[in-house]
Amino acid sequence: MNRLVDKDLLPDEEQIERSLRPQRFKEYIGQDKVKDQLQIFIEAAKLRDEALDHVLLFGPPGLGKTTMAFVIANELGVNLKQTSGPAIEKAGDLVAILNDLEPGDVLFIDEIHRMPMAVEEVLYSAMEDFYIDIMIGSGETSRSVHLELPPFTLIGATTRAGMLSNPLRARFGINGHMEYYELADLTEIVERTASIFNTEISHEAAIELARRSRGTPRIANRLLKRVRDYAQIMGDGQIDRELTIKGLALLDVDNEGLDYIDQKILKTMIEVYGGGPVGLGTLAINIAEERETVEDMYEPYLIQKGFIMRTRSGRVATQKAYEHLGYAPIGEGE
Ligand code: ADE
Repeated sequence: MNRLVDKDLLPDEEQIERSLRPQRFKEYIGQDKVKDQLQIFIEAAKLRDEALDHVLLFGPPGLGKTTMAFVIANELGVNLKQTSGPAIEKAGDLVAILNDLEPGDVLFIDEIHRMPMAVEEVLYSAMEDFYIDIMIGSGETSRSVHLELPPFTLIGATTRAGMLSNPLRARFGINGHMEYYELADLTEIVERTASIFNTEISHEAAIELARRSRGTPRIANRLLKRVRDYAQIMGDGQIDRELTIKGLALLDVDNEGLDYIDQKILKTMIEVYGGGPVGLGTLAINIAEERETVEDMYEPYLIQKGFIMRTRSGRVATQKAYEHLGYAPIGEGE
């Protein structure tokens, strides 16, 4: 079964996400704080005819960081070149990308925390003073070449700001903290996507879907596609609340929007570790997931919803987790 909570886009999703992507701020729903700030900085940069200061976008996967980067470039009226931290293996790869930029362009680096250190060091002077010094050749014949760059805007995206080195973080003038979406915004996104898909969905159904989508548009759109399939086969193609509830039950998405893995995390904490405290690494091994996946994708939502607490000695399942999964309250039973 497809994962509903996934760090990466599934193969067929990239194109779909692109077709759903809002182009301008006025179409971009939610993230008002980030949008409001950026709109002012963009207007000011345009008035002064300068490149926008470098922007760091951080927040859990699926909240629209890439979309935001494209919107910024569109609002600035410049080109966007897209790459990712792991894709830039050598300093030379970065030099080739930087050399290709035109004045004012946006360079978007996704997963910027995963850039090799040797590449990151090249980026420092490029970001600060728009030049790079590169070594050509080796041994006695090696020499340093100074390359001037056009002023450009780097937009970096990362799931956690804490994973960035201090020198890199310090070179971003603008920080955009992407938050989980409010229910009303997510409902609007579901309705917008449904209309792009030419699918009819009742407002109540859109709310139900949004409510169980972990505040994340990518998940909301994934669930919408599956519920659309369900409605087509089990109903007349129109999505109402009842079909939504049945379709989501089939996908193992529970009433709080927790999926199979969320439930496995909480059950393991409770059944194997007596509710905790348990270290994140130990927990990840127990449920056969990567530590990074649990830390970036699952834990933030479980914490926000009050199912898990972080303490100095590890993670602890809360009373709400016990109740939600139907266990006797902490301190009773056994
Ligand atoms: N589709 C996915 N995310 C969106 C957003 N923030 N605004 C509008 N449409 C979206």
